[in-house]
Amino acid sequence: MSRLGTESAFEVLAKARRLEAQGKQVVHLEIGEPDFATPDNIVEAGISAMQNGYTHYTPASGILEARQAVAAFVTRTLNTEVDASEVVLVPGSKNVLLFTLLACIEPGDEVILPDPGYPAYASQVNFIGGVPKVVTLREETGFRMDLDELASLVTPKTRMLIINTPQNPTGGVLTEEDVRFVCELAHKHDLLVVSDEIYSQLVYGFHHVSPLSHPGMRERTVLMDGLSKSYAMTGWRLGYAVAPRALAAKLDQLMINSSSCAAGFTQMAAIEALSAPESAHATSCSPRPASRCCREQPLGRRAGDTSASRTRNPRTSSRAGCSGSGIS
Ligand SMILES: Cc1ncc(COP(=O)(O)O)c(C=O)c1O
Repeated sequence: MSRLGTESAFEVLAKARRLEAQGKQVVHLEIGEPDFATPDNIVEAGISAMQNGYTHYTPASGILEARQAVAAFVTRTLNTEVDASEVVLVPGSKNVLLFTLLACIEPGDEVILPDPGYPAYASQVNFIGGVPKVVTLREETGFRMDLDELASLVTPKTRMLIINTPQNPTGGVLTEEDVRFVCELAHKHDLLVVSDEIYSQLVYGFHHVSPLSHPGMRERTVLMDGLSKSYAMTGWRLGYAVAPRALAAKLDQLMINSSSCAAGFTQMAAIEALSAPESAHATSCSPRPASRCCREQPLGRRAGDTSASRTRNPRTSSRAGCSGSGIS
């Protein structure tokens, strides 16, 4: 446990809730919450699923129809053919990283990750005995990785590269050139890439780029994504991995040994979220002008939760409006 870190946003949230329970007013700038409510059609799908008996165990990797919905969604959005057998549903996308590390990393293996970055990365890598190697993101370069610096971090012990685009906490995004470089590096040194794309639908005037779409990368990429941010479903707890089949089987085994499965009604609600045209207003952030979307026009009843931007000219809302500001 001494190697396990934390996510301070959750600690601050707990303190804030305690203050609220004492009648104090708190402005929430801590946790990465979208500033709109889960859309009604998704809530109704969840209620209907509960009423129709989806309140029991499901297969560990998820209900087939839900995995198919994810596969169809990723096929559509990332323009690469994904099959349901490559999809594993988990209760929150953090589990994708934890399970992948458990499945692929031996003590002493090095894992390259961004700094600043989502705190769970370094915490989980340290916890399982891996060695985090940080690639520094600098404001002067729009929080892009210095590609030479990235390449210089690779050693014979490097096994994995974690990328996050759009990025928490900087709001930076990886360009086509960056992603191509990452893919080439991964091929050259036989690295696995974990690509955290949890904010991929919350971009403005920018086409999201994923290594999963790159030729030859399917066999060495784990997509880490979920419903939390784009559909304001943080409390429903649903993340997903798209992984090579052999690795997906290991993630399934880790699910069996940990949570057993994600909640059945949440999975059914996810089918609605990912497939229904009514969800469009939750996912239509990208084509809208930035100022018209989450930042100036909070969409739901949680408008009071909107936080201030910390990023100049953000291309994403990862920490710049749709979600809380970033100390998580
Ligand atoms: C970059 C990043 N990845 C992953 C997560 C985890 O999201 P969840 O576990 O709700 O899917 C978060 C949440 O704040 C995040 O900011």
